[in-house]
Amino acid sequence: MERLIISGGSRLKGVVTISGAKNAILPILAASLLSESPLVLEGVPCLDDVKIMKDVLQELGVKVNWDGDAMEINPSGINSTEVSPSLMRMMRASNLVMGALLGRFGRVRVSQPGGCTIGSRPMDLHLKGFIALGAEVGQKHGFIEVNCANLEGAEIHLDFPSVGATENIMMAAVLAQGTTIIRNAAREPEIIDLQNFLNKLGARIKGAGLDIIRIDGVLKVGREINYRVIPDRIETGTYMVAAAVTRGDILIRNTIPEHVEPITAKLREAGIDIKEKEDWIHVRGVDRWNALDVRTMPFPGFPTDMQAQMMVLLSLARGTSIITENIFENRFQHVGELRRMGALIRVEGRSAVVEGVEHLTGAVVEATDLRAGAALVLGGLASDNTTIVEGLQHIDRGYEKLMSKLSILGAKVRRES
Ligand code: EPZ
Repeated sequence: MERLIISGGSRLKGVVTISGAKNAILPILAASLLSESPLVLEGVPCLDDVKIMKDVLQELGVKVNWDGDAMEINPSGINSTEVSPSLMRMMRASNLVMGALLGRFGRVRVSQPGGCTIGSRPMDLHLKGFIALGAEVGQKHGFIEVNCANLEGAEIHLDFPSVGATENIMMAAVLAQGTTIIRNAAREPEIIDLQNFLNKLGARIKGAGLDIIRIDGVLKVGREINYRVIPDRIETGTYMVAAAVTRGDILIRNTIPEHVEPITAKLREAGIDIKEKEDWIHVRGVDRWNALDVRTMPFPGFPTDMQAQMMVLLSLARGTSIITENIFENRFQHVGELRRMGALIRVEGRSAVVEGVEHLTGAVVEATDLRAGAALVLGGLASDNTTIVEGLQHIDRGYEKLMSKLSILGAKVRRES
């Protein structure tokens, strides 16, 4: 078991460069299955989740050549439409290949994705979308099979603006006959990135970023394009909070300020000093900051993927805060770990009541999911002595070069087995 040893108390100072967005590259890799031509992706972050998606594509017969932050994809040799249970079990986002495989080959078979620590994460909205497009869905022996020789455009209203369902339905609709309208669509920036990628391949999609997306089906897509994915807004938010909780001074480069506007608004409300321009954000910590309330909501609301990190900041605020998690039903597992570091938090249903304390103290803590892991690292950086964070496999899924980026900012962290 690998773990991080963090000697807390240093003010993080300096420059950090944001990597490509995990939650943009994963759907875009899946969408490349629709292409009849080879293509190149740039700004690809070196993350375990990206490695798994590469393995999924290669298992389907796609040739992938990954060199640094560039990935050459050649989807002309696809010889399967089935994702193995082992890969599905490693990452539920593997289900993002369903829409593209169904759209291009008329069939797809995946094992039922397991739940995960933050919630049951069903796929009912994805499957309802496929059925609306004319597909037949079978679920037996732990597998989901979706078949349809010719998908037909349809009007689909999502019960919830699910990011994955919006992406999967968009991809399935690209080659369908006729027009598909997705209402109550997710509005996350990663949806816009997926639309831009698909349109560069020859798809005809409009409206991503709004709650109504229109896809006009085309016969095929494929152009030898280069496409650079957007920077990671959650990595950006994580370093913004790192500057705040260590009372540091960090210039965050290669980011898109409007993608983190809900985070910036909350940090400014707490009293943190934030300046921003085209592709950078400068965050300067203050000695003590205000308590405030946070409710996670679909974009452009406050992102659920920043809830755990915000809890660390509010654990050290002046006063009592209430954090309400509206997206996932079980995303407070970091509370117990933060309590071990001296945080005063009590969970009441979907809300956590956080009473600000002067200091957090080091402890041995365990990451339970990707963002909880990031939060525990922030807690360690903010605490007065040594913290050991275990469960690094979660953190490696979503934070590229975390150790070197933190060390360059002056953090005293080391990794050991
Ligand atoms: C995406 O997951 C992200 N993952 C998650 O990031 C993120 O937390 C989430 O969106 C919300 O923003 C990727 O993009 C790879 P959803 P996704 O479908 O698509 C329920 C991270 O840390 N739901 O918007 O799975 C679901 O149970 C990860 O980077 C249904 O009920 O999220 C959840 O409660 C964690 N039925 C809510 O909707 C469905 O068919 C939001 O899920 C689909 C979803």
